[in-house]
Order: sequence, then C-alpha cells, then structure tokens
Amino acid sequence: MEQIRTYIEANKDRFLNELFDLLRIPSVSADPAYKKDVARAAEWLKEKFTALNVDRVEIYPTKGHPIIYAEKIIGPDKPTVLVYGHYDVQPPDPLDLWESPPFEPVIKNGKIYARGSCDDKGQMYMHLKALEVMNAMDAVNCNLKFLIEGEEEVGSAHLGEFVKANTDLLACDIVLVSDTSMVANDVPSITVGLRGLAYVEVTVTGPNRDLHSGTYGGAVANPINVLCEMIASLKDEDQRIMVEGFYDNVVELSQEERTKMAEKPFNHETYCKDLGIADTRGETGYSDIEVISIRPTLDVNGIWGGYTGEGAKTVLPSKAHAKISMRLVPNQKSGEIMELFARHFKKIAPPQVKVEVNLHHGGEAAVLSIDSTGYEAASLAMKETFGKEPIPTREGGSIPIVAMFQDVLGVNTVLFGFGLNADAIHSPNESYGLFNYFKGIETIPRFYHYFATLNQK
Ligand code: BES
Ligand code: ZN
Repeated sequence: MEQIRTYIEANKDRFLNELFDLLRIPSVSADPAYKKDVARAAEWLKEKFTALNVDRVEIYPTKGHPIIYAEKIIGPDKPTVLVYGHYDVQPPDPLDLWESPPFEPVIKNGKIYARGSCDDKGQMYMHLKALEVMNAMDAVNCNLKFLIEGEEEVGSAHLGEFVKANTDLLACDIVLVSDTSMVANDVPSITVGLRGLAYVEVTVTGPNRDLHSGTYGGAVANPINVLCEMIASLKDEDQRIMVEGFYDNVVELSQEERTKMAEKPFNHETYCKDLGIADTRGETGYSDIEVISIRPTLDVNGIWGGYTGEGAKTVLPSKAHAKISMRLVPNQKSGEIMELFARHFKKIAPPQVKVEVNLHHGGEAAVLSIDSTGYEAASLAMKETFGKEPIPTREGGSIPIVAMFQDVLGVNTVLFGFGLNADAIHSPNESYGLFNYFKGIETIPRFYHYFATLNQK
C-alpha cells in the first residue's frame, strides 16, 4: 500500500503530463469534423498500452470510430478482469462559456480543467497508470483485458456489434468501469444502477418556404409555435410523461428499497444553490434522489428554427426542430420507447403540419448486484484508500454497453467511478480533481488484489 503511494508520488508529474497529452486531442465522437482526431486518440492509446508491456494490443476499426483492445494474461488459474472505458468526448460547445480552452488542459484550484478530464479520459487513463504501478511492483495478480471505445458518447452502436462477435476474446469474470461519480470525496460510493436512453430528433414542417410574418401570420400554422405546443403536451402538471404506454414496463421500487435510497446524503438547498435554481420540479410523489435515478425522464436537449441571428427578422418559418432525450429505467426498452414516442408525436400533430421523427441512438438501463465478489473487492479497496466503506448508489446517466455485458457476456460490472457531480461533465469547464485522479490510481490495484484473493481458483 505504502509502496503504491510512493511510486505514484515519484511519478506524479509524468502521470499528469501523459493525461494532458490525451486531453489535448479533441476526440469528439458526435461531430464528423473531428474524425481524424478521434483516430489519433486511439493511436496514442495504443502506444501507451505497448509501453505497458501488454501481451497484445490492437486497434479494431469499425464503421464508426475505432475500438482498442489490449490484454495481459498471466495464467489460467487467475481471474480475468475486463476494463472498459472510452476515449471519445462530448462536443465542447458552448465555447464562449469556457474559462480556458476545452482542449488546452490547465490545473486550477486542485482540478484539471478540460473536456474529457473526468468523462472519461481522466478516469479511463487511471487504469493504464494503475497497471504501470502494478508492473513496477511486480504485483499483477489477475488476467487483464482492456476494451476502450471511441463511441460511448454517441450510443456505443459499433461496440455492441463487436462484443457480440467477440465473446471468446472478451470472456471474463467481471467488468471494471470508471465512468461514474461518487457522492463526495469524503463519501465514497459505488454505482449500482444506470438509466437507459432513447434519443430522437423531430422536425415539424409547415409552409413550403419561410414567409413574411405579416402577410401570412394569422392564417398559416407556425411550425415553431406548433412544436412548442406539442412539446408542452408531452408532460402533465405532475411531470408525468404523456407518451402512451411510456410507463407500461417501468419497475416500481419497494418501500424498503426507497427507504434505503433515502439514506444517501443529499441536501436539497445545497443542490438548488449550486445550480442557481429556486427549486426542483420532479415528478410528483418522488424525491429528488429518485427522480434523478430510478424514474424515467423526457427532456428537450436543443430546439431551433426560424431566425436566430442578430436583430429581428419578421419571418414565419417553414420548419422547426428539436432533439429530445428520454432517460429510461429497468425494463423499458429503448427501441420500444422510441417507437412509442414516434407514434405519439405523429398522433398529436395538428393536420396543418407534417411531422418527422428520426430515431438516434439508445441504450438500456442496468442494475448491478452488490452480492458479488466484484462489488466486495471494490468496497474493500475503497475502504482501504478512503478510510470509509463506500455506499451503493444509483445514478441517472447511461453507459449503454453495461447492459450488453450482462446480456451478451453474462457478467456483472463494477462501476468504480471516482468523479464528482461538481466535475461538470458534458458542461463548459469540465474538471477532474487531482485528488480523484491519483486516488483512483491508488485504489485500482487494491481492487485487483482483493478480487484475486476472493476468486482463487
Ligand atoms: N460518464 C457518463 C455516464 C454517467 C454520467 C454515468 C453520470 C453516471 C453518472 C457517460 O460518458 C455518458 O455521458 N454517457 C452518455 C450515454 C448516451 C449518449 C448513450 C449519457 O449518459 O448521456
Ligand atoms: Zn459522457
């Protein structure tokens, strides 16, 4: 334990500089303009794996962005851990809200500021550095497989195919992922639930061209007005989603589970104050913690149309658009929900407009067991490095591949995240604490130690 700390301390600057090099590559998966940068990030990681003396490292091209696979196999009598992470990042927009450029990492107030610093380059790279530490200590005690993808932020479509086609290659006893958060630096936690996602884009079309809003306004249905009415009708005053059939498969938690969830430290006032909001507005009958983890949502992510430039232009637009995401909970199937949404949205459209619904990506929710040697090893490791036993929590974000690991490989995942909500992932000024980066590197080798001990074959 002490040895691990000493090694990290002695190599601190290099561990940071390497992460900074990765953060400088703008690997935005959503925008084709960054395709070359995404490929460059994959090459960069391949080099780093090679330097870690792995037995094998490969880049697998896909129809989207490449997948990196690496392994270090020490013996058939040892348990196998598959580490999953992603090197792609969300678009950095809106750029003008960043205090320093998103792809020029800087350290301020003990945190690394850059797009991807936490989600997920910082958290993923901790695993490579943890392997370096274990190599130096000659302490590798599990077979290690690494699967690092470049499409997590856009739904992991090609990784899903890859996992299905490579079940032997990826065979393992547990999947280990650092891409989630903890409650606080002094309240370690392990995530045991993730929501799923259904993402759609809608277009409402009215007249065949933009019109003078004086000449035609009053007679012609304005697609932006109509889109707003349609969106407004998607939720009632209790914040229930009105899409027909939406709640059909939603699993309700037992009172006992809900009471347990309420033990998670959460302060409503601090939460609102941090966000600059007067109050929350969740589904009636459910707590703040519940509406951001075990209840489904529907949110508009972007809406546009008409004239949005400087000054005023009197125009009745031809088209209006919106991007809409729905976070899903166990048993809701993303494909089905997208279909239900499309059917409902077309049904509520007034006859004066045409409506198009394009289905983007989806992913399924996941619930993970705490009665597993993986969870136990993670809990023991955190207890050792944080001095406190972690609490299990459910989070509202999505990592689509986790449910597939369960279904296709038949293995559980441990969500061993070291981020914080304050890290502002997906927002301007994303950050990752130096404490968290180094704590992760220190804790991961302890996980392997306990996992190997609990799974002696
Ligand atoms: N790291 C997040 C997932 C996450 C965030 C889990 C917060 C728990 C708490 C991940 O990189 C992510 O953002 N995923 C996307 C997936 C989607 C595009 C399918 C998400 O949740 O929006
Ligand atoms: Zn993300």
